[in-house]
Amino acid sequence: MERKRVIIDCDPGIDDSLALMLALSTDELEVAGITIVCGNGPAELGFSNARKVLRQMGRLDVPVFKGAEQPLKREYVSALDTHGRDALGESFLPEVLGAGPTENAVDFLERELSKGRCSVIALGPLTNLALLADRAPGAFGQIEELVSMGGNFRSHGNCSPVAEYNYWEDPDAAALVYDMAARMGKKIHMVGLDVTRQIVLTPNLLEYMKRLDPETGEFVQAITKFYFDFHWEWEHIIGCVINDPLAVAYFADRSLCSGQEAYVAIETGGISIGQSVVDSMGFYRKEPNAMVLTRTDPLRFFRMFFGRILRLGEDRLDLLDTLVR
Ligand code: RIB
Ligand code: CA
Repeated sequence: MERKRVIIDCDPGIDDSLALMLALSTDELEVAGITIVCGNGPAELGFSNARKVLRQMGRLDVPVFKGAEQPLKREYVSALDTHGRDALGESFLPEVLGAGPTENAVDFLERELSKGRCSVIALGPLTNLALLADRAPGAFGQIEELVSMGGNFRSHGNCSPVAEYNYWEDPDAAALVYDMAARMGKKIHMVGLDVTRQIVLTPNLLEYMKRLDPETGEFVQAITKFYFDFHWEWEHIIGCVINDPLAVAYFADRSLCSGQEAYVAIETGGISIGQSVVDSMGFYRKEPNAMVLTRTDPLRFFRMFFGRILRLGEDRLDLLDTLVR
């Protein structure tokens, strides 16, 4: 099996952490490195949390690099209200001692992508990728495939009626990245709220995970309990939407999501700042710069998610059919 080399750019972050667990458990992927961007929490917290997840997975060999600490232009607005004061669900896990970042994230992205045959899964704001595109467009053009958890098409926003957090937190970066993709004839795989909202980790699914693998289940519970409370209070659901793991699952298996190619532009000001404007009808007469995912299969996702992180065959996951809504 040829492994797909990938860099994960993220803002861990509870769902980013679950996504990292999935990526590190997916044999088809070779995680070349993790780059941190400010988003859910400050970059310093994201760096620390990525290392906590790597320790949990026994993968402290994977290098982590700290990147942008501010959006390109806007004032930084965190999502610590959603992810907790430690940006990891107030699990307050002990710090991983030892080496701090050895190189800036954008320097790593430029160096690694210039070698070719490497993709990027972006799970946070696109600030690092915008800095790369601006400074080293050649390296940006070398990205084999770019999957971005972000944006929304027909689903409502989560930061405003029309904007999703990753693109709202740094709309100028998102706009620059989508514009660069258009100019280079590239298509960004936009895994937005239209599909990720269907991926809900429920108390029963968490209980099932704990029964199957207490150690992994307890870790997932430790970092998601805060997220459950947030979702009850703000979205009035029992469970939590885990956005980022779907982007990793889709990268590994494209049949998990489907949608349509379209030209996408990001609004950078005004009442709809951060909105991903999806030209599905071709009004702007511009070539598509995105594959906008709009349909997915939650049961197939959870079969992959449980199967990979618990290292279990589908025959051991028979209850999923009754637990996944
Ligand atoms: O809007 C959801 C996205 O914003 C997720 O990636 C979450 O981790 C936050 O970064
Ligand atoms: Ca994220």
